[in-house]
Amino acid sequence: MYLFKKISGLRLFLESYRSKNRAIGFVPTMGALHEGHLSLIKQSLDSTQCTVGSIFVNPTQFNEAADLEKYPRTPAKDLAMLYKAGCHAVFMPSPEEVYPSGLDTSVAVDFGALAQPMEGRFRPGHFEGVAQVVKRLIDIVGPDKLFMGQKDYQQYLIVRHMAQALSLPTEVVMSPIVREKSGLAMSSRNERLGPENREKAAVLFRILQKTAQWMGQYPPREVERKALQELQQPGIEPEYFELVDGSSLQPIPDFESPGSIVACAALWIGGVRLIDNLILK
Ligand code: PAF
Repeated sequence: MYLFKKISGLRLFLESYRSKNRAIGFVPTMGALHEGHLSLIKQSLDSTQCTVGSIFVNPTQFNEAADLEKYPRTPAKDLAMLYKAGCHAVFMPSPEEVYPSGLDTSVAVDFGALAQPMEGRFRPGHFEGVAQVVKRLIDIVGPDKLFMGQKDYQQYLIVRHMAQALSLPTEVVMSPIVREKSGLAMSSRNERLGPENREKAAVLFRILQKTAQWMGQYPPREVERKALQELQQPGIEPEYFELVDGSSLQPIPDFESPGSIVACAALWIGGVRLIDNLILK
């Protein structure tokens, strides 16, 4: 496995694959890797000839300075995991390499209603930062396939929309959520939960599963109300629980309409913000 900190070295390395028409897969991460990231790496290894992972804690997508500061950083462990997984190259740039002064890296795409609900409502500016860094990294790596986790379902839709709107020659692939034994969705942020809160946080997945049963009994707004009510537990602060159309992210009017339905939720526990979702239909 090769480690690159500079764009020039990475590009030279990738040229040898590109010139032989070998497909390049890319898994962007912010480090603090877990099994969920490794499943993305595995998916890339299975369907391309060269897998590149990146580790970059992107400052522009954090709407709170404290959140950026507290974001877990475990580079030595991350590199060992990527090496063991069989990743071909890792890009670990400095902020100056990603955002050199004088280069306009802003993304002129209107995300419309996709960016407004849920994460967009509670983390203003977050998706502009995500789109900016993902576009910049795609420009640098030039992947044939980009692998994104389902846990950040709204982020996946935003990135897919950007790739379509800008006609990027990259296929955006969504990979299923990997869960801990308790059902808690794997997340770098889980590292910051103590053992007690880590156990308690599994309630989120249990309620997402209950939603699947309630679907046949109550209308959507009632299901959301019941889910939020059950999440109101000591030490847990639910932020949202929404049943949305899987393509537009608009609230579903009923369960009979065509199209997919996704239950999406966010909550705070022990000072840590967690998100999760379940594709119901
Ligand atoms: O999901 C993440 O870890 C980040 O938002 C991403 C896609 C790596 C961009 O910084």
